[in-house]
Amino acid sequence: MTRLTGKTALITGAARGIGRAFAERYIREGARVIIADIDAERAAQTAEALGDQAMALRMDVTDQASIDAGIQAALARFGQIDILINNAALFTAAPIADITRQDYARVFDINVAGTLFTLQAVAKHMIARGEGGKIINMASQAGRRGEALVAVYCATKAAVISLTQSAGLDLIKHGINVNAIAPGVVDGEHWDGVDAFFAKHENKAPGQKKREVGEAVPFGRMGVAEDLTGMAVFLASSEADYIVAQTYNVDGGQWMS
Ligand SMILES: NC(=O)c1ccc[n+]([C@@H]2O[C@H](COP(=O)([O-])OP(=O)(O)OC[C@H]3O[C@@H](n4cnc5c(N)ncnc54)[C@H](O)[C@@H]3O)[C@@H](O)[C@H]2O)c1
Repeated sequence: MTRLTGKTALITGAARGIGRAFAERYIREGARVIIADIDAERAAQTAEALGDQAMALRMDVTDQASIDAGIQAALARFGQIDILINNAALFTAAPIADITRQDYARVFDINVAGTLFTLQAVAKHMIARGEGGKIINMASQAGRRGEALVAVYCATKAAVISLTQSAGLDLIKHGINVNAIAPGVVDGEHWDGVDAFFAKHENKAPGQKKREVGEAVPFGRMGVAEDLTGMAVFLASSEADYIVAQTYNVDGGQWMS
């Protein structure tokens, strides 16, 4: 069954990791996908691997001109954007005493302002087109509670959950559903970096942090990107029309609210 036939999805940060898995699955469900990423070379490689239904786009979600130009290029190729996944993000970690204003500003610029202003730009297109749409923001279990060494990233993901609520409430009158997915721990290049950070700050062997977090998941292992794709298809489909401003945990049982 193809549940997204005729739809076009713009996915930020889709050159690798979870965003790439969303793009692959959306294409299998009949959609056309715009791989929007600041890493233009990797986005091009990903789009080529995914075939004719994928388009690579260099987009920096911290730069309004880049967002606007990217959307225009996507519309020139596909004519419409029905689905947006705000997936691009940056993870950083540091003890409270080591956090710098520069790092704080950079992570908030990508994770929060990037999410809000990409959402705004795509929502304007969706409102003008008058056919509604689906917007999915990538939150995290990190947005549900703080973590000792991860203050800034956790705060950005809490902000994403809040923005999902406000945007969801404002945009539903236009038939635009805004919801979010909160993953737990998902293995991939992102987590290779997290593991290296904890190896340094908690004196762990390489790979140890991943093993520990995997064992702590009630399901019994870390997630993989494909564990999230079912929720991303559901929230983008007409089956989710009555779902507004929600954040769904897809985390193997880590968090319960
Ligand atoms: N991996 C996890 O354990 C996990 C857990 C919870 C939430 N998440 C969230 O899921 C999403 C995807 O995570 P991932 O593990 O695939 O991350 P990742 O680091 O592997 O991929 C992020 C992508 O975003 C791109 N990007 C970074 N800055 C950008 C910018 N300014 N403009 C456009 N693109 C930019 C990167 O080039 C990269 O391709 C993120 O929002 C992340 O916070 C991940």
